[in-house]
Amino acid sequence: TPYTNMFRRPPVLMPCEQGVDDKGPFHRYRLTQKIGQASIVPGLLTTIAGYNGIFPGPTIKVPQGTRSEVRIANALGDHPLYSGEFNTVTHLHGSASLPQYDGYANDHTSPGQAKTYRYPNWQQARTMWYHDHNHRTTAKNAFVGLAAMYHLSDQYERRQLPQGEYDVPLVVSDMAFKANGSVAFDGEDNAGFMGDVIMVNGVPWPKMRVKPRVYRFRVLVSSISRSYRFKLSTDDQVYVVGTDGGMTPTVNAVSSWRHAPAERYEILIDFRKYKPGTRIELKNLSNKNNEDFDKTGKVMQFEVVADPAGPDTYEIPKTLDLGPQPWANLGAVDVHKLTPDMATARRRLRLERKHGIWTVNGETWDDVEKSGFQRVFGNPKPYDVEIWDLVNESGGWFHPLHIHLIDGKIIGRNNTPDQKAYAWEGGGKDVFYLGENETVSVLMQFTTGGGNAGGRYMVHCHNLIHEDNDMMIQFAVGDINV
Ligand code: C2O
Ligand code: CU
Repeated sequence: TPYTNMFRRPPVLMPCEQGVDDKGPFHRYRLTQKIGQASIVPGLLTTIAGYNGIFPGPTIKVPQGTRSEVRIANALGDHPLYSGEFNTVTHLHGSASLPQYDGYANDHTSPGQAKTYRYPNWQQARTMWYHDHNHRTTAKNAFVGLAAMYHLSDQYERRQLPQGEYDVPLVVSDMAFKANGSVAFDGEDNAGFMGDVIMVNGVPWPKMRVKPRVYRFRVLVSSISRSYRFKLSTDDQVYVVGTDGGMTPTVNAVSSWRHAPAERYEILIDFRKYKPGTRIELKNLSNKNNEDFDKTGKVMQFEVVADPAGPDTYEIPKTLDLGPQPWANLGAVDVHKLTPDMATARRRLRLERKHGIWTVNGETWDDVEKSGFQRVFGNPKPYDVEIWDLVNESGGWFHPLHIHLIDGKIIGRNNTPDQKAYAWEGGGKDVFYLGENETVSVLMQFTTGGGNAGGRYMVHCHNLIHEDNDMMIQFAVGDINV
């Protein structure tokens, strides 16, 4: 029953060690991927596989300029959905990581092994997430629980946006369960998975108590295939203060927003005008190319309670100061300041479905594998700027296309320059919602994961069933063999 379970936040992971070395401050973390039991369906236990055995996994919080080393041990047993080795690869989505730590789909860790991932954290504050990326089983691995948030903070974000209790992660996913409580996954037709239960932070349709204050919600859709159109039952507007790439220079008020898997939107909701006892629903209006069930239009409920601490005087900002670009001295430019005349190349990426196979420019990850991982569709130099036209020619499907490494700016839609980004897309993006027959033009800079380092990075559909069915190709920055 919606709105009967209490809302909860994923736990925050504490570093097992912190310090300063010759390269500056660092945090060390340890995570173990293991099988866990979750009580999701009343009276039953559901076998999941999660970071530290929980879904979502623990949130990692790191300040900008502090490197992190995350040792991830694979202690997984049998997969709840398939037989065979439960191999894993971890990708920190939103981070400009070096290629060897970027979760390359074929660079897996087997049960009994561990890998230490090193993240630079030089970027401006943003909401990232880490999730599994193992080739051909990404959808099933993420579905059973291998997904969690990672927040990179900085002084500009801390000064301008709500913090602590009023900074709330919302990991939204859809799932399906069998009568015995085990997860039910049906994505075998390669099209997608649409569950009938909407979960927020691993709880079905939760109810959250809020004070009459301004809250910041970091909304991540970790669904395998479903997209959402979120809206408040009051018809009130929400204020978009962040996208995939961090804070937006301008705060945009929207009455609803469209949200695909892997996209992050940070929004402010102003609960100050509501009396204690008021109930407000976060709803999901339907999007094209999705399958709706009885209760997939509901997401969660807020219940306003009294705040003994008195009125909140926070002023909703109109603009945000993102601070200086940390790597400006190396040639990095804030995504918001990129202009089309800086581009040295323009490429077209066509997404199609041919004979039941998902392709990008007629190619698949299978072609990349057959080339010994040498095949790339583009090879910009570090700090080059390019325009990519992402074209959905696949018929009745939408695709959330994810480009690793970069932050991009939407500069056009459907080849009409006056039809640009939607109001909620006003910041840096790394996932681009390509609706049916849509074309989205993106301006991006190849600011690398480490100074002038280069290497290979994946581009794929974040409908994870499409990704597993080979809708993935790669580009390289600079030297491809680092
Ligand atoms: Cu969120 Cu290549 O993935
Ligand atoms: Cu797709």
